[in-house]
Parts: sequence; structure tokens; C-alpha cells
Amino acid sequence: MNQDQLKQMVGEAARDEVLKLSAGQILGVGTGSTANCFIDALAPHKDHFAGTVSSSNATTERLLKHGFKVLNPNDVVSLPAYVDGADEIDPAGHMIKGGGGALTREKIIASMAKQFICICDSSKQVPVLGNFALPVEIIPLAQGIVTRELEKFGGKVSLRLAKNTRPDLNQTPSEPFATDNGGWILDVAGLKISDPLKMESQINQIAGVITVGLFAKEKVNILLVSNAAGVERIAF
Ligand code: 5RP
Repeated sequence: MNQDQLKQMVGEAARDEVLKLSAGQILGVGTGSTANCFIDALAPHKDHFAGTVSSSNATTERLLKHGFKVLNPNDVVSLPAYVDGADEIDPAGHMIKGGGGALTREKIIASMAKQFICICDSSKQVPVLGNFALPVEIIPLAQGIVTRELEKFGGKVSLRLAKNTRPDLNQTPSEPFATDNGGWILDVAGLKISDPLKMESQINQIAGVITVGLFAKEKVNILLVSNAAGVERIAF
């Protein structure tokens, strides 16, 4: 079974999970290739939900294409669940997210939701976070000072460059990757994150940081994780 099939399988499991929610509510929807599988699997059941809130422009576009209603988060007061992927997840349910650059809106929507339903394949499960470079979204003019502050944590900091992943912005690979919020991303490689809650709070306090891609405060509530044997459901 290849990774695409594993993503599809867990996307379908997440569809079944959210269809257990009573009808007529709003659903939070994440960003990335696994979240895309979930959106595609849920599309035939879109009328079960009164609408969605989206964590990125790319997700909004996909949701609208399928005919989902996409609401402004400011107009939403109750969100029973948020479904999204992860780049790494530890045994306590803390995650690294932001590989796709949508970490800030992802964290905002996650903070609104009663339940974070994380969907991934088992390659994302790690004993300690940090093999995946930690994304930090920053205000562009703070790149220098934030880089120096982040280096104090012991990792190697690099500015993420555009990979032609944003054709809408007409960016070239030598330019910084720009987020949906106009921020830049610093990726911190080589960390061993043994206390994710503490590191999340410390990095969030650096002036110029918009959001760190550590989801320790907003950790997972239900993990759906796929491997060749099927999908396992773990409640935290
Ligand atoms: C985007 C994210 C994604 O959830 C994360 O990168 C996982 O993506 P994928 O499902 O494509 O592996 O945090 O900002």
C-alpha cells in the first residue's frame, strides 16, 4: 500500500468520524494532502454540515469547488471539530505542523474547536518531535532578530523559499515563501523537543513571531492513523 492510499484511507475514516456529529453544525477543515483526501471523501455528504471554516486559501478553494459553504471564522461561535493532518506527532498527541505553511490559520481554527481530529499515516508518529524542521511564521522585517533568537534553541534556522507552490503570487524559487497572511517562514532543523508545551510558549514570546508550528496547547483529541493493517483510532 503506498502513501497516497494510506492518506485516502484515513481521509475516509475521518469522514465517518465527523458524520457521527449531529447534522447542521460547522466543521473546521485543515490543509495539506491528507486534509485534501478528507475533503474529497466528505464532499458527497456536504449537506450534513451548515458550513465549514477553512485554514488556508488552498483549502477554501477546494471546499468551494465541491460546493461546501465556507464561513468567516469571525461569524462562527461554535465549532465541534477541526480535522487536519500533521508533519509529526508524539505519543502525548503534541504535533509539529506547518509543512504546507498554513500553521497560523490552522492554530486559530484548532483553538476554536472542541475537538482536534488529527489524520495521518503512521510515518508521522515519532517518539520525540524534532526530526521534521519546526516551522515558525514571522513578520518579514523581524527575520534577523528572530533567527538569532531561534538559534539559541540549538537548531539550524533557514528561511523557507518559494517552490513555485504559490502560482497565484507568481513567486520564483529564489524568493521567500509567502504565507496566506503575508508572513515568512523560518524552518528550525535539528531540534529535540522534549517539552513541547514549554518550547511553544517560549517561541511564541519572541517579538516578530506570528505563530510557531508546535501544537502542544492545541494538541490532538482524536488521532486517526493509517498503516497497511487499517486505521487505528486513538482518543487522548
Ligand atoms: C500544513 C500542515 C499539514 O497538515 C501538514 O504539513 C501535513 O501535510 P500532509 O497531509 O500533506 O502530509 O500543517 O500547514
